[in-house]
Amino acid sequence: MTNALTVDVHLDPDWFERTLRADVLEGLTGSFKELPPKWFYDDRGSALFDQITRLDEYYPTEAERTILRARADEIAITSGADTLVELGSGTADKTRVLLDAMARIGRLDRYVPFDVSEGILRSSSLELITEYPGLRVEGVVGDFEHHLDQVPGGGRRVIALLGGTIGNFGPVGRKALLTDVVSGMQRGDTFLLGTDLVKDTGRLVAAYDDSQGVTAEFNKNVLHVLNRRLNADFEPDRFEHVARFDDTDEWMDLRLRSLEDQTVRIADLDLDVHFARGEEMRTEISAKFRRDGVAKELAAVGLELERWWTDPAGDYALSLSSLR
Ligand code: AVJ
Repeated sequence: MTNALTVDVHLDPDWFERTLRADVLEGLTGSFKELPPKWFYDDRGSALFDQITRLDEYYPTEAERTILRARADEIAITSGADTLVELGSGTADKTRVLLDAMARIGRLDRYVPFDVSEGILRSSSLELITEYPGLRVEGVVGDFEHHLDQVPGGGRRVIALLGGTIGNFGPVGRKALLTDVVSGMQRGDTFLLGTDLVKDTGRLVAAYDDSQGVTAEFNKNVLHVLNRRLNADFEPDRFEHVARFDDTDEWMDLRLRSLEDQTVRIADLDLDVHFARGEEMRTEISAKFRRDGVAKELAAVGLELERWWTDPAGDYALSLSSLR
C-alpha cells in the first residue's frame, strides 16, 4: 500500500532568511517604504490573524464560509473533481466543507495542500488522513509566487485560492499569479476563487481597524518579525496603525506611521533606516473586487467565469472558472 501522505518541500532551509533580507532591503531603502504582507505570519502573526477572523467587524471569513456551505455540493458536481488543490491551505479549516461534498458524490480521491509553512501543512494533513479514510494527501511546501509549477497534476482538479488572498496583490501581481495557475491547469480542471467585494467604505475601514486593536497588533507584528529575524531594533510603540480605503485602486491600504523622527538599525543587513515623523510605510494592500473586474481578469489569462456566488449581504464572492 502506498503512503496516504507525502510532502514535497520546495523551500530550501534558508529560503526564509534570504527572501526576507531581499524584501527588506528592497522595501526599506527606497523613497516610499513598503514591506510585503507575507512577513506578518510567524506564529504570533498567524494567531493574531486567527483572532481577526473571529472579530465581528471582519466579515470576509464568515461570508466565505456561508457561501461554501451553501454551494459545496454545486461546486463538487459542477467541477466533477476528484482532487482538491488548495493554494495557501493554512490550517485547512474550510477545506472539510469541500472535501465532504466531494465525498458525498463518491468522487473524493486526493487533497493537495500548498503552503509556505511545513509545520502547519503536516499537522493539518495528518488530521485529514485520519478523518477521511482512503484520502491521499500530496502536500507541497512552497511560495505560490514561485513554485506553483510544482503542484502535481493528474485526476480532475479543483484549484482553490480562498480567503481573499488574491487581494494582497495589485493588478500586475494578480495577472502573474493567475497566469501561473492557468499554466498548470489541464482540461477539466476548475479554478475556485474567493474575492472580497467593494462595499461601503465605513465597513471596510472598520474591518481593518477594529475597535479592539487586534489588526493594529497584527500590522505591528511585522516589526517584531524583523527584530527577531534580522536583529533590528524597531520599537513598535513608536508607530501607529493606519488603514484607509483607496477608492481609485479600490483596495484597503495598510500602513505603519512613524510617530516621531527616528532611525532604526537593522543589524543583519548593516542598515540604518530613517523615518521622518508622520512618514508611512505600506505593509499590506487588500484589494476589493467587482464581478466585472474579476471576469475580466480571469478572461485575460484564458479563464471563463462560469459561476459567481455571493453571501446574502453581497459582501464577498466565490467564483468558479475554467479554461476557455
Ligand atoms: C489574509 C490577505 C485575506 O486582506 O483581509 C486581515 C489579511 N490583513 N486584516 C485580508 C488581513 C488585515 C487578509 N488576507
